[in-house]
Amino acid sequence: MDEIGRNNLGINNVDGVLDIDKIDPKNFEHIHHADNVLSQKDLAELRNYIFDNMRFADKKRFRRIPREDGKDFPVYNFLPRDKEPTNLLEKYIVGLIGKQHHIEYWIRYNDELQWHLDGDEVYERSGSSFLKPVVFPVRSFCFYVHVEDLKGGEMEVCPFQGNIPGYRIIDNYFEPPDGSTIMTVKPRSNYLIRFLRPLYHRVKRVEKGQRLSLVWSQWQDYPYGYEKGNHWDVSDIEPVDKAVGFLVKKVEWPIKEGA
Ligand SMILES: [Fe+2]
Repeated sequence: MDEIGRNNLGINNVDGVLDIDKIDPKNFEHIHHADNVLSQKDLAELRNYIFDNMRFADKKRFRRIPREDGKDFPVYNFLPRDKEPTNLLEKYIVGLIGKQHHIEYWIRYNDELQWHLDGDEVYERSGSSFLKPVVFPVRSFCFYVHVEDLKGGEMEVCPFQGNIPGYRIIDNYFEPPDGSTIMTVKPRSNYLIRFLRPLYHRVKRVEKGQRLSLVWSQWQDYPYGYEKGNHWDVSDIEPVDKAVGFLVKKVEWPIKEGA
């Protein structure tokens, strides 16, 4: 692995890459982004590692097909801060951001997702958020590993909209309040964006092409699901309502497709 350009992170304020025509960039100090994060050699290694270890359904291209030998890497995984990276995904993430926090990470391919906050979804889906509020990660990252011939699939971000009590993290009733600023993030290969606090965002439908991203969150403490050995059911049946349609159950970490 080449030395990763860590200095690229955090020094760029948002510029014309994001659709911020009417906004003063100095208001965006909680959003950082960087191009050319990895060398071409490293990017190819990471991309090939992911594509070599995962297959995707032809029709539903966001849907992963588990390998028969069980050696594909997980849908969701977690690297505690006191553990060394063991797979290439972890090595690259740790190479980029270090190991000051626990790291929850996952892969996304050509998916679409409604407005939501990255947070402790398992805690909320366990009904526990009636007891105390949902906890959010320290930071969230999205690294676009491979983007090709893409139409659609943009990420939209409400840069000033954090948690609103009364809404679930993923909530069909949530819409950005009238007058909200919404930024459009156009995916491109080897591009990283990070939020330094929880922000509402969504991912629009991919009309054509490919968008492969490696996504992770840094946690100060273990999120509930990892601590309790719970996660939601990653089944072949996509719930109609992603806000409440997933059942939380006991799992073995790391979590694999069809677990
Ligand atoms: Fe997200």
